[in-house]
Amino acid sequence: MSPRILVLHGPNLTLLGTREPDVYGALTLTEINRRLRDYAAQQDIDLRTFQSNSEGAMIDAVHEAANWAQGIVINAGAYSHTSYALRDAIAGVALPAVEVHLSNVHAREEFRHVSVIAPVCVGQIVGFGWRSYLLGLEALCQLLADR
Ligand code: DQA
Repeated sequence: MSPRILVLHGPNLTLLGTREPDVYGALTLTEINRRLRDYAAQQDIDLRTFQSNSEGAMIDAVHEAANWAQGIVINAGAYSHTSYALRDAIAGVALPAVEVHLSNVHAREEFRHVSVIAPVCVGQIVGFGWRSYLLGLEALCQLLADR
């Protein structure tokens, strides 16, 4: 059966394409989602994507995912470094989540070195640009296939 996955994008990621392209790359979020959908179609993954700039809406999306998804790929943007509420939501639904970041957060400002969601995620993929999402999706599907 096709794995059911939510890719959840957090704040400011709709600015991709024009936002600090030297850090985040030149692709827009629409283009990233298109590439993820193409991959999902090839691999027979049931994929939904959602973006919000709001912490509450992201938390709602995590709760909602518990009704249909088997796992989450999440780029929580700056909420990764600050949101205990998002962390509690991920822990609360007990779905496996893979944290991804386009940039290598560990090579950047110190406040980006800490992710408060990392301890409740199965793993973290950072620094591969848009491919961090692809790698995260692949890793999550392989993990689910092993279960
Ligand atoms: C980011 C890294 C975060 O530190 C930053 O706040 C973002 C993007 C990334 O994908 O590299 O918004 O999550």
